[in-house]
Amino acid sequence: MMHTAYEELRFIGLTGNWREDVVSFLQSHGMGETAEHCVRVGQEARALAIQVGADPEKAEIAGYLHDVSAVFPNERRNAAARSLGIEVLPEEETFPMIIHQKLSRAMAEDLFQIHDTSILSAIECHTTLKKQSSLLDQVVFVADKISWDQQGIPPYLQKLKMELERSITHAAYAYIDDLWQKKEQLRVIHPWLREAHEELSERLNTQIDSQ
Ligand SMILES: [Fe+2]
Ligand SMILES: [Fe+2]
Repeated sequence: MMHTAYEELRFIGLTGNWREDVVSFLQSHGMGETAEHCVRVGQEARALAIQVGADPEKAEIAGYLHDVSAVFPNERRNAAARSLGIEVLPEEETFPMIIHQKLSRAMAEDLFQIHDTSILSAIECHTTLKKQSSLLDQVVFVADKISWDQQGIPPYLQKLKMELERSITHAAYAYIDDLWQKKEQLRVIHPWLREAHEELSERLNTQIDSQ
């Protein structure tokens, strides 16, 4: 039975084609632009996965699904998350946009029947990353930044692509470190982002030291 948090949604069923299912779901909620963004992220994630040796299928599916929670308006996201039993952190309370990553994970599982925990994990941390991130987490995180959901070319794109030549972890770190340098201007700093920043800087330093 479908959870009451999803009652307001028009869920249209599954065909087994993730891209089509996500696109028609988002379009039926008037989210055509998000649908396009999700398709681009899915394709980018697949390409990145092939490049860095992650699972292309999983990366693609996670990319398609990562923003499905956009169907919930910002002001209803925290309530929806809470009713699904998702922990809402104080930072998410203050800035509900960030809860959408956890909400997308729940929807991927409950509505789109994704039960692969590595895919669910990548969806869940696509905005902030998290500590002990997997290669797949990093692939989807970086794919989302490359195919961003705003107009024009992302200001950080050149640097991200340069770092990508070193490794996907360097690229993920470069993006996070950029945010970190501007942290005074951010509304909130999500604890997962803080932990990812700390841990990746250690991981990358350790790598450099051992070379
Ligand atoms: Fe997102
Ligand atoms: Fe996104």
